Amino acid sequence: MDPLTQAAIGARAHAHAPYSNFHVGAALETDDGRIFTGCNVESASYGLTMCAERVAAFHAVSQGARIFKRIAVATGVAKPAPPCGACRQVIWDLCGDIDVILVSANGTTETFRLSQLLPRPFDDHSMA
Ligand code: THU
Repeated sequence: MDPLTQAAIGARAHAHAPYSNFHVGAALETDDGRIFTGCNVESASYGLTMCAERVAAFHAVSQGARIFKRIAVATGVAKPAPPCGACRQVIWDLCGDIDVILVSANGTTETFRLSQLLPRPFDDHSMA
């Protein structure tokens, strides 16, 4: 199995999701092959919950990583779940048009370019 997919599945085991019981893992790969993981972390004040993809992205940036190639997102459902809208925006902000690999419960994957999931993104060009 692709190590990035494996890392996303492994990160999912750390999810803190007592309210939704929907466990998500994410793994972000840098241009030089490093992998940074994240899982969703929920709050009793639901709106404070942070998605796995953003935890992985902030983890990577906080460690000094800046250039990214791919992100894998693992859930426990049969049909691969794509990142939410907020995560699509933040992945665009920090990673640009990278590959997004969706990993289903049985480990099968589906890959999209972020621009397929987020056409016409808002970014600094939009403010020119
Ligand atoms: N969640 C993620 O971690 N990533 C997404 O892209 C969609 C949603 C989490 C947030 C919350 O803990 C749970 O899944 C249900 O929405």
